[in-house]
Amino acid sequence: MTEPDELRFRRLPLNNGRSIPALGFGTLIPDPAVTITATKGALEAGFRHFDCAERYRNEREVGQALQEELAGGGVARGDIFVTTKLWNSNHRPERVEPAFEASLERLRLNYIDLYLIHTPFAFQPGDEQDPRDQDGNVIYDRDVTLLDTWRALESLFDHGKCGAIGLSDIGLEEVKAIYEAARIKPAVVQVESHPYLPETELLDFCKEKGIVFLAFAPVGHGMKPGLLEDPVITGIAARVGKTPGQVLLAWAVQRGTALLTTPKSAARAKENFDISPLPQDAFDEINRIQTRQRLNPVVKTGIPGFIPQSKSTAQGG
Ligand SMILES: NC(=O)c1ccc[n+]([C@@H]2O[C@H](COP(=O)([O-])OP(=O)(O)OC[C@H]3O[C@@H](n4cnc5c(N)ncnc54)[C@H](OP(=O)(O)O)[C@@H]3O)[C@@H](O)[C@H]2O)c1
Repeated sequence: MTEPDELRFRRLPLNNGRSIPALGFGTLIPDPAVTITATKGALEAGFRHFDCAERYRNEREVGQALQEELAGGGVARGDIFVTTKLWNSNHRPERVEPAFEASLERLRLNYIDLYLIHTPFAFQPGDEQDPRDQDGNVIYDRDVTLLDTWRALESLFDHGKCGAIGLSDIGLEEVKAIYEAARIKPAVVQVESHPYLPETELLDFCKEKGIVFLAFAPVGHGMKPGLLEDPVITGIAARVGKTPGQVLLAWAVQRGTALLTTPKSAARAKENFDISPLPQDAFDEINRIQTRQRLNPVVKTGIPGFIPQSKSTAQGG
């Protein structure tokens, strides 16, 4: 039964009067068939928040999985929260609405709960998502500012097809600049965050301004060695009778963030949804971890850090 106070059912208020489920399922899954089974598995495990992006090139598969599950009747569109993101090659204001509409069409939805600017880096406008010069360097677009793109998202919000707008892969100073200039304030900021990258200053700013801080890579992207094998995490897991993954996800929700995790199997989805509050001493112990590590360099260049190489993607994802 749904117990609103339980960690796994926690919802965080958005600055638009709505709310977002703290536990989110991320769809950055390179394989199309796995995208479908994993998305269904997540929904069946209890996830109600789905994070997509045109750059993941699998919005069609996510849309198919969601539609098949919704058609089953157990879950209604209004019960799920869907995010997608504008890619770097669509930052020119005139490209924003067409990109948004194309995502809607692929996802088979008629509105999006949250639309994010995927990164603050504008690439050469066009259909090539990874534009490179002859030396293999990314071609940036110097003729559009992040604020120009933000203004276009504000218009989308005005037209009512996206419930909230926000930013991703961005640092505190850039968030502040947009926040100050914005007519519609960012509702969500999505960045990498876990005990090795707590981003405390950004989190504090977000809390002060009523912006939801949405953490990606909460279990350290499954990398080993890494967080899942950290002795503090494994020690707490043994003590509280949970898995290291569950401990990391609980910590993230308990510190007031929303999160995105990408379990690929139904069993892993159930595991990651089944989180419980950590005792205060365990929570404090994780806060005292000193290791610092950023896993995804996207925030420095706009080049994706976790998307695998493909023919038209010179740089690993
Ligand atoms: N804004 C951005 O630029 C950006 C960048 C990266 C990601 N994201 C979003 O954030 C989402 C989540 O990122 P992420 O993939 O780094 O999430 P994550 O959940 O930290 O990492 C997923 C990896 O961890 C493994 N894993 C998950 N739960 C586990 C557990 N309980 N025990 C052991 N291993 C576990 C998974 O293994 P299995 O494959 O075996 O399930 C998978 O390899 C993405 O899907 C995407 O939506 C956004």
